Amino acid sequence: MSSFVIAIDGPSGTGKSTVSRRVAAALGAGYLDTGAMYRIVTLAVLNAGVDPADDEAVAALLPTLTFASPTDPVAQNHELDGVDVGQAIRSHEVTAAVSPVSANPAVRLWLKERQQELAHSGRMVVEGRDIGTVIAPGADLKIYLTADEGVRAARRHRDYAPGAGALQVDAVQTALAARDRFDSTRAHAPLRAAEDSVEVDSTHFEIEDTVAAILRLAGERGIS
Ligand code: DC
Repeated sequence: MSSFVIAIDGPSGTGKSTVSRRVAAALGAGYLDTGAMYRIVTLAVLNAGVDPADDEAVAALLPTLTFASPTDPVAQNHELDGVDVGQAIRSHEVTAAVSPVSANPAVRLWLKERQQELAHSGRMVVEGRDIGTVIAPGADLKIYLTADEGVRAARRHRDYAPGAGALQVDAVQTALAARDRFDSTRAHAPLRAAEDSVEVDSTHFEIEDTVAAILRLAGERGIS
C-alpha cells in the first residue's frame, strides 16, 4: 500500500509510544505522536502563567504558538518557539496539567486540522486517544492497546528518571488512573475504542511481541 493510516489508541503506560515508533520504523512509515502536541500546548500554557483549566485564556494563547510536529519515528525533535522541549513536555508538571488542556474543545479543534493533514500525508502510524474515532475514522487499521492498570503504572514508574522528585509506584498508579478517568469521561473526543478497532492486550507482552502482533494485523490488511 503506497499510503495508509494505522491508528493506535489507548490509555497511558501501555507502551503505546515505543510500540508505535517501532511499527512505523519497521514499515518505513512516518509516526505522529498526538499526545506530544497536547503536551506542548500545555507547556506553553504553564510557561505563560495561564491556568490550564481556564478554557478561554488557554484558547486565547493558541494563535501565538509555533511548534514543530516531527514525523520521523527515529528522531522526534519537539520544539516550541524554536527551543528543544523534548524533556520539558514529559515533566510531572506538564503531565499533571495536560488533561484539562486536552479536554478544552478549542485546543482539540485547533490541533485536529494539523493532525488530520499529517495523518493523511502518506504512510503513517498515528498515536493518541481519539485517532480511530475522530482524527482518522477511515484508518486502514485501528489498534486499541490496553494493559492491566498495575502493569501500566509499573511501566510508567520505570520511565521516570530515578532520584529527585521520583514518585512511588502507587502514587504513579493513582495519578494514571485519575488521568485515564478524566480522559475517558470528558465531553469532547473521549478516550474509547473505535467499534472497528482490534484490541491488543499488552499485559503479558514484551514490546517486541506487541510490535509483531500489530505488524501481523497490518500484513493481513495488505499493509507491508
Ligand atoms: O499519550 P500522552 O500521555 O503523551 O498524552 C498526553 C495527554 O494528552 C493525555 O492525558 C490525553 C491527551 N491526549 C488526547 O486527549 N488526545 C490525543 N489524541 C492524545 C493525547
